[in-house]
Amino acid sequence: MKANKQNCYSKFWKKRAERYNALEWANHQSYLNAFAQAGDFKKTDIVLDVGTGTGIVAHVISPRVKQVIGLDKSQDMLEHSNWYENMYFIRRDILNPIFKDGVFDKVTARQVFHHILEGTQEAMDECYRVLKSGGKMIFSEGIPPSEEVKEDYIKIFKLKEKRLTFMEEDLIALMEKAGFKNIKLNVLWLRRMSVKNWLINSGLPQSTQDKIFKLHVNAADYFKKVYNLTENGGDCLIDMKMVILEGEK
Ligand SMILES: C[S@@+](CC[C@H](N)C(=O)[O-])C[C@H]1O[C@@H](n2cnc3c(N)ncnc32)[C@H](O)[C@@H]1O
Repeated sequence: MKANKQNCYSKFWKKRAERYNALEWANHQSYLNAFAQAGDFKKTDIVLDVGTGTGIVAHVISPRVKQVIGLDKSQDMLEHSNWYENMYFIRRDILNPIFKDGVFDKVTARQVFHHILEGTQEAMDECYRVLKSGGKMIFSEGIPPSEEVKEDYIKIFKLKEKRLTFMEEDLIALMEKAGFKNIKLNVLWLRRMSVKNWLINSGLPQSTQDKIFKLHVNAADYFKKVYNLTENGGDCLIDMKMVILEGEK
């Protein structure tokens, strides 16, 4: 059973890894800038990037810090990463501790926690444990743009993957329970994002891509309004809501 679960996980990320680096949201400059700014990185910082994937965030951070260690469960995602000389990668589950207490100045995790279906709080606790006292956690998630469309959001993402759906208060609670202080949450809207780009680079079968696309085109007016959805030359453009959270140990 356990081996079977691992197999499904590997297959899912193998497929996603092939086109992950072409995702518009993942490389969005204002998203990366806002994330890096929240980190307030220093040249002396040693950073752990949890769920580093193809290392997009680690790559952006690396010129600003002493060292970045990217940790990820998926070998395939790691194989699609670009390196700088102060970047290191480890294939590991965050729930399988390897580091001593209090060794990192900063811990980052962008778009990772919604994939940690079991042990979500334990994963946040682990991020807290490995931070130095006075260290900082910076993490980010995409969330439904409002309560009104939460059920639609869940329905759409259910077609895509098994995942958690958070609202702002759930993310703050995760951090508070781990022990973080001075928690800040910033909202960042990625405007006019292509649904086609998201789907084409998702690793999903064409039939699922088509279903999700139709759910956008044929959505009710309230959904279109909240997402600021416009149709554009065979594509749909929407506003995506991201939140970036910071907390101190
Ligand atoms: C959507 S990708 C985000 C990648 C990267 N952080 C970024 O912002 O582009 C999520 C990544 O989290 C990793 N991941 C999920 N659960 C994990 C866990 N328990 N331990 C380590 N990595 C995990 C996945 O393998 C995947 O590479």
